[in-house]
Amino acid sequence: MGTAARTPEGAVEVAPGVHWIGAFDPDLRIFDIILRTANGTSYHAYAVRGSGGVAVIDTVKEEFADEFFRRLESVASYDEIRVIVLNHLEPDHTGALPELLRRAPQARLYISTRARSMLKGLLGGDSLTYTAVTTGDSLSLGDRNLQFLQTPYLHWPDTQCTYLPEAGILFSGDLFGCHFCDRRLFDDVVGDFRFSFDYYYAHIMRPFGAYVREALALIDPLPIRLIAPAHGPVLRGEPRRHLERYRVLSAPSRYGGQEPTLLVFYISAYGNTRHMAEAVAAGAESAGGVRVSLYDLEGSEVAPFVDLIEGADGIVIGSPTINGDAVKPVWDLLSSLAVVGVRGKLGAAFGSFGWSGEAVAMIEDRLRGLKLRVPVKGVRAKLVPTADELAECTALGEAMAQHLTGRNEAKSIDMAALA
Ligand code: FEO
Repeated sequence: MGTAARTPEGAVEVAPGVHWIGAFDPDLRIFDIILRTANGTSYHAYAVRGSGGVAVIDTVKEEFADEFFRRLESVASYDEIRVIVLNHLEPDHTGALPELLRRAPQARLYISTRARSMLKGLLGGDSLTYTAVTTGDSLSLGDRNLQFLQTPYLHWPDTQCTYLPEAGILFSGDLFGCHFCDRRLFDDVVGDFRFSFDYYYAHIMRPFGAYVREALALIDPLPIRLIAPAHGPVLRGEPRRHLERYRVLSAPSRYGGQEPTLLVFYISAYGNTRHMAEAVAAGAESAGGVRVSLYDLEGSEVAPFVDLIEGADGIVIGSPTINGDAVKPVWDLLSSLAVVGVRGKLGAAFGSFGWSGEAVAMIEDRLRGLKLRVPVKGVRAKLVPTADELAECTALGEAMAQHLTGRNEAKSIDMAALA
């Protein structure tokens, strides 16, 4: 019989004086509405003992508080707890905090400076006192220290990592975590969790690639012997391998050279919106300096298009209006963009319609809602686009190219008019 089915009853020592005191949730299949998991998840908390007292790093989801307290009590008494660090305020890590504070009222709470505005909303109560910390701050546990690294948006604004230099341990919160429940706990003995690690990154961290790269720059110089995340395997085998994986996953995704890229998507019932799309693409191409791609949404699943959009600088979307709405493949694409960073990219819309033509404005609104900039008014054509309407589409493509290359800002000044 292997060890797969055994749950450690007590705490698990991950390094001398550092214990895992978390909980396993093997029956979970959907986390936070959006994330699937084939074997559940785990909520990790840790107790760090120093000569001057004990620090508890994170807690667990409220339903699992009993497990957490049982494990905590096996390595520390409540009156020894001097410090509680919250690397992240989401309820799966703070569910047991109110009870922990009741049991260890002398403990001082440490949160990131960016967590301050979220603390009351999530945990209620005006009586919570805390110390807000950021990169460069540290606290002493006597013979050991906790150093803080502010790593915002991984995946909430409040997220931070805590580093224990004397043991080379990075308590990383959700960063480097995954929803993978294996009671053997350590990465070098659990089952193959690579798919889960990448899936978690894709759904949680991917929209924040630039912040991931900033976090890696902070973490890279640290001598790391073990990464202790808030979910999934504790990474002691080759912790740097997981840093490298994040580096690969967060690398900017660009195609070709340095020129801006524009993607023109369309879907067309009778060829009208398609003709408009071709005119948009031709206009952008004729403007020069932009790499233009043209895609029929009927020709692919959504996921590859989402990947393309992540690496593009601008998108233009064409849809007919059917029953007062843009069509489902367009909404499928737009509703899939939450997993990638699109803020600040350029967007535009166009489409043919029979009698009402709401789709273009709806797409523009959605693009703005996703924080794209929509610098050019969309083009609508009633049924078969006229030559003038196709010329408007060409102009739309040209204008988008000019915005992408910065040439739209160039002004031609008539000196004679100034005289
Ligand atoms: Fe595991 Fe973002 O909470």
